[in-house]
Order: sequence, then C-alpha cells, then structure tokens
Amino acid sequence: MKKWYAVIGDPITHSLSPFMHDTWFRDHGIDASYVPIRVEPANLEKAFESLKLLGVSGFNITLPHKQSIIPFLDQLDDTALKMNAVNTVVCDGQQYAGFNTDGDGFVRSLLTHPVDRNDQLLVIGAGGAARGIVHALKRAGFHHVTIANRTFRRAEELAEETESAAITMADAESSLADFNIIVQTTSVGLSKDEALPLSLDRLKEGAVVADIIYNPLTTSFLQAAKEKNCTIVNGVGMFVYQGAIAFEKWTGVEPDTEKMIQLITEKLG
Ligand code: ATR
Repeated sequence: MKKWYAVIGDPITHSLSPFMHDTWFRDHGIDASYVPIRVEPANLEKAFESLKLLGVSGFNITLPHKQSIIPFLDQLDDTALKMNAVNTVVCDGQQYAGFNTDGDGFVRSLLTHPVDRNDQLLVIGAGGAARGIVHALKRAGFHHVTIANRTFRRAEELAEETESAAITMADAESSLADFNIIVQTTSVGLSKDEALPLSLDRLKEGAVVADIIYNPLTTSFLQAAKEKNCTIVNGVGMFVYQGAIAFEKWTGVEPDTEKMIQLITEKLG
C-alpha cells in the first residue's frame, strides 16, 4: 500500500520539505507521498491522533511544535531527549518514536567542506539551534569548540554541558583570527540590513564560515565573510541533510543530497 508522510507546523505554506521528500520518493522509485499540514498549537494532540488514525508512516515537525509533541510520543532517541525537541517521528507500525536530526544535519553539511576535526571552531549563539549543533559537533569528534553568546551565562551553560569553551562576544571579536571555522546560529541576519551578531573585522582569510539560515541564501554575515575570501556555508546543506537523515530512517534509502542542494538553491535564488 502507498505510504504517506507529512510535515506539521504553523505556518507551513513556505516549507520546502514536501518538494524535497516527494522528489526523493519519485527519484528513488518509492511509492509514497508527503504532505504539509498546518496545525495550530491548541490542536496538536487532536492532529496527532488524526495522523495516527489515517496511518501516517512518519512525519516532520517544525515550529512551534518541536517541544510540545514530546508528551504524545511513545519513545525518544537520546538526541531528542537531550535537546528536548523533536523534528522527525518514525512509526514502526505501532509505536511513534521521536528523533532530532537538525544537529547531525548541520555536521554532515559542514563535513562536505574543507574542515578538519582539529580546527578551532567558534559557535555564535547558545539557543536551541546552537545546542543541537554543539552536541552533534562533539559527537562527530570536533575537539576544539568555543561558544560565544550575547548572554554569556547561556554560553557557559552550554559549554559546561558539552565540554566546550565559552567566551564573551567581545572576546570572540578580538580573537576571531584564531578560528578556522565559524558557525552563526542566531536569528540575526534573517532580514538583509540587520546588524551582525559580532564584527567580522578580524576574521581570518580563508576560514570556513557557516550560517544556519537558508532563506535568504546569503545573510549579511555570509556576505561580510565572502569579502574576506572565506569558504561560505549557507543553511541549505543543513536543511537538506536533516531531511536526508529523516528519509533514511523512514525508508532505509540514502537520498541524493548533492542534487537536492542544487535544486533548493535554484528555488531560493
Ligand atoms: P533558536 O532555537 O533559533 O536557537 P533561541 O533558543 O531563542 O532560538 O536562541 C536565540 C539565539 O540567538 C540566542 O543565542 C540569542 O542570544 P541570547 O541568549 O543572548 O538571547 C541569539 N540572539 C537573538 N537575537 C540576537 C541579537 N540581536 N544579537 C545577538 N544574539 C542574538
């Protein structure tokens, strides 16, 4: 029987996940489809019951439900438990298990660029997104991770939890040349004219600079880094790889990520 999958969130109309998963189902000859469903926060439990009743095989969860879905699930994997957030649900026929593929998605994307696990890596931000990424970086064996955040205490807490280092934004600005990889995880830069979360004046030429934002494709942060001849990593790779990991969990098939990054870049360009 044809299987079906979904993404639930509010808003949901701009999600590129249906395009991505439907393309992969088609390209890999899998008889399945993927639908976007807008679910208002007050209706989450009822919506989940409906998905179950209609035999959903798995689904993605986006804002604002990543945390609030947890009480309704039967199982959580270690990462979702640690993050207290779920972006992927897999149904094995009876049980619904929650996973969080965002952090590992970022790391897979980063590893397609010229980076080394011994590089000095600076993460800017200490919110939910940064947490997933720092945990995944440490799991993947990046040894030298430093976290800078506007609210220093949050950087310290995340650093303690992940055996990383914490520095203030001012210290990050003045020691920026010490880092080979810089990862921007804050929401700053979603609009084009927004100020940078920190000055990039001392950025090392040739560093790898990543932003988790993918729409717009180029943030003011990446633009400033480009002017310093840095390798730029936008958020498209993270988006595609978090989806690829979910797709693998659902189907056992490793989808074509390179082509998808191109397709999505064209769509957003
Ligand atoms: P997310 O899940 O997207 O990470 P979050 O948990 O609310 O969202 O975290 C937002 C992050 O962006 C935090 O690191 C926040 O810094 P604070 O901890 O000091 O709030 C950071 N951030 C948001 N607006 C910022 C700004 N204008 N300048 C610098 N950092 C900012």
